[in-house]
Amino acid sequence: MTPAPVVAATVPSEFELNTWSGERLEQVEQALSRWVTADAPHGVDHGAPAQLVEAMRYAVLDGGKRLRPLLVLAAHEAVCQGDVAQTLDAAMRAACAVELIHAYSLVHDDMPCMDNDVLRRGKPTVHVRFGEASALLAGDALQALAFELLTPQDGSVPETMQARLCALLARAAGSAGMAGGQAIDLASVGLPLSESQLREMHELKTGALLRASVMMGAHCGAPSAQSVAALQIYGSSIGLAFQVVDDILDVTADSSTLGKTAGKDAHNDKPTYVSLMGLQSSQAYARRLLVQAVVALDGSGLAQTQALRALADMVVNRVH
Ligand code: IPE
Ligand code: IPE
Ligand code: MG
Ligand code: MG
Ligand code: MG
Repeated sequence: MTPAPVVAATVPSEFELNTWSGERLEQVEQALSRWVTADAPHGVDHGAPAQLVEAMRYAVLDGGKRLRPLLVLAAHEAVCQGDVAQTLDAAMRAACAVELIHAYSLVHDDMPCMDNDVLRRGKPTVHVRFGEASALLAGDALQALAFELLTPQDGSVPETMQARLCALLARAAGSAGMAGGQAIDLASVGLPLSESQLREMHELKTGALLRASVMMGAHCGAPSAQSVAALQIYGSSIGLAFQVVDDILDVTADSSTLGKTAGKDAHNDKPTYVSLMGLQSSQAYARRLLVQAVVALDGSGLAQTQALRALADMVVNRVH
């Protein structure tokens, strides 16, 4: 059922995504564990906030593909052409901030008032484990922590860069981005959406944050206008492709592979690309979006785009 990797040939054979991502994933895990903690300078020693931090750590650590952090780091490296050292701290903060927003969106997405799911990342969902009020608060606190990460007070990230990163993330997470897309999702249960309505929903609820990941990574460096324009197309294309593939996997994969309940979209009567155009056309559409993303990279004027190419390929050809 998984679509054939039609443009895998565009990823240079000497580039190994697993090797590239292994080292970075380790750094992201360490940074997340360090930052999502009760031991912060403003640390909490009261029992209730400590349990809140426990729920936050449960939501964020030990799970997830970490695609968004990898996109931040890959875009940063592409724009910096290998000379990443000076802005690596900003890029790691941006990578973790996007993952915190994503993790918060999953916690709330799974709650009974939304998709009512009991399984996430192979574990009971946060509200099942900690209760609904704690899940709500853990999501709220993860969102706030994302912006705290982007605004260090120690001078390590220039204030103009802090402001740009916050603006990109806030727009992608809010009513014109993820939260707005989730609102359309909930309002669309049982409705036969047109392709353009469904596309808008997917672009907002999922695409916006993926595109923001790419743009935040780029803006940790000093991107040219040409590369910004190309990366916006790349980010939008893989962002939409990601949710098209999520819709496909909900039908084709099983719960143990996904780490979340398969078949939930049909069960909840959600409009998806599969319900709108069928499995094969959805797979073909995802592959067209992948080609669009790769073509954009080709026109970016950037020399080191192997990781971005490989991640685009992964978005469309993944099995979970
Ligand atoms: C799932 O995202 C939710 C969507 C936006 C479709 P991911 O598939 O990236 O979830 P994790 O982070 O790997 O768990
Ligand atoms: C969720 O979309 C998008 C978010 C903003 C979290 P889904 O509801 O399809 O995500 P899954 O399938 O539960 O991971
Ligand atoms: Mg949902
Ligand atoms: Mg869901
Ligand atoms: Mg889904």
